[in-house]
Amino acid sequence: MKSRIRIHDKEFEIFLTEEQIEKRVSELADEINRDYQNKKPLFISILNGSFIFSADLFRQLNIEAEICFIKLVSYKGMKSSGKVTTSIGLEEDIYDREVIILEDIVDTGRTLHEFIPKLLHQQPRSIKIAALLHKAEVTEFPVHPDYVGFTIPDKFVVGYGLDYDGLGRNLKAIFQVTT
Ligand code: IMP
Repeated sequence: MKSRIRIHDKEFEIFLTEEQIEKRVSELADEINRDYQNKKPLFISILNGSFIFSADLFRQLNIEAEICFIKLVSYKGMKSSGKVTTSIGLEEDIYDREVIILEDIVDTGRTLHEFIPKLLHQQPRSIKIAALLHKAEVTEFPVHPDYVGFTIPDKFVVGYGLDYDGLGRNLKAIFQVTT
């Protein structure tokens, strides 16, 4: 695996290896398996960035669980556009369900801060957040992930589902911008 890569106009260096990610995702799955025995949680995976994290985590669950996907968009290039739009909405009935939101990364927290009240309208029994990455120091909205893979500094990252202007999602490791 290369330790430095270039995507569009930016250089990136390795930040989290495939092995580190795999180990941490297994640990998160273990915690969720313990916490959600007999609760039949519904996972809501937020596309696009969460698809790989969601698939890897979900495959490691040994409890009864369901998963669905929605698409929210707030990023363009390396900056949040400041506006969250829904392009594929939620079809499942979440009334009285134990919901776990799957996010690739919580950055400012805006996406979930705008989305969670919409879910609360439907009166789920509980809502928790599992985020692979959390840029805790820049989270400005009151969003507190319950399961966090890695708390990371405020630097743009790609790989393992995360993209830079469409590219980089298929990288097995996570890379951090150097410039
Ligand atoms: P938030 O609304 O600011 O918390 O941002 C959430 C969304 O922005 C994530 O689901 C990602 O799609 C995207 N995002 C935030 N930081 C990064 C990053 O470093 N790399 C790639 N996408 C990011």
